[in-house]
Amino acid sequence: MAGALLFSSPEDDPLAWSLALLALMPELEIRVSPDLGDPAEIEAALVWKAPAGELSRLSRLRLVISLAAGVDRLLEERALSPSIPIVRLGEAGMTETMNLYVLHAVLRHHSEIPAFERATRERRWDYRFPRRARESRVGVMGLGLLGGGAARCLAEQGFDVAGWSRSPKRIPGVSSFTGRDSLASFLARTDILVNLLPLTAATRGLLDRDLLYLLPRGARLVSCGRGETVVEADLLRALEEGQIAGATLDVFAEEPLPAEHPFWAMEGVLITPHCASAAIPEIAAKSVVENIRRLRAGKPLLHRVDRRRGY
Ligand code: NAP
Ligand code: GLV
Repeated sequence: MAGALLFSSPEDDPLAWSLALLALMPELEIRVSPDLGDPAEIEAALVWKAPAGELSRLSRLRLVISLAAGVDRLLEERALSPSIPIVRLGEAGMTETMNLYVLHAVLRHHSEIPAFERATRERRWDYRFPRRARESRVGVMGLGLLGGGAARCLAEQGFDVAGWSRSPKRIPGVSSFTGRDSLASFLARTDILVNLLPLTAATRGLLDRDLLYLLPRGARLVSCGRGETVVEADLLRALEEGQIAGATLDVFAEEPLPAEHPFWAMEGVLITPHCASAAIPEIAAKSVVENIRRLRAGKPLLHRVDRRRGY
């Protein structure tokens, strides 16, 4: 007998997801956390920030589908047997909202909007000559589904765009920098750095003081991958010292960002509450249903996460 699907996310709408999934697979039985019913009847779990220990209660779990593009939390879940495959959703409608977020953040820095906001508060007429897009060199760290999409979108707007990833990429209008050896030259040509790296052993704490000081003085940072890829104390110092002239931060080591965190009061820092992008149920349901069908038919799964790589 086919098992049930557990839906577990404090941030996604279970009704919207259920409707989208049932439209494609009316026979699917969906359980919504925390009402698991008999946990042994659950064969697959669709999750983001599942409560601690919940997945370990599912004794017959055969598949974990991540609602998030970033799978770092799932890979850290000790109770989850490495033999259970983890898949992502694929495009899932995430690139549109991420492109908008990154485009807005980059345009805001490029057009000196924070300076105009300050001047507005101070009733100062602070004329600055308008700058063409190609005068800003944008560097995108991580050229996967989201970083690659954002880099392409920025290039289409005329920005001078480069990207950094593990393997070389061919994206129209985007220069490709690959691996550690090219990191310094990638950073040296970057006025606005967009961080869309996944959190892995190799990227944890990568954006530290040394890296931030390889950027030209006065560079800006847009960070919307994972908070732990940035050493927050080093970023604060770089902001205080003027090495980084402004930052748009969507992700943090601790979320929600604690009220006493110095970022809140830092001049030039804009904070958004980890809302750059999310999967759209009507678009993503197709990939969930396809993977459940493949699981049941013993066929290869789509968008499978490489546990050794960490993303
Ligand atoms: P992805 O498709 O897995 O792409 C990851 C990219 O990072 C790839 O280009 C990969 O290089 C590169 N990369 C990984 N490790 C690297 C390293 N050590 N050095 C250089 N490059 C490295 O991921 P995605 O879908 O684009 O998403 C990226 C991240 O965005 C997610 O992991 C998640 O944390 C975050 N995210 C945030 C939000 C939000 O709302 N703020 C929403 C969605 C996702 P290769 O291509 O060479 O493998
Ligand atoms: C959100 O942060 C995601 O990884 O999808």
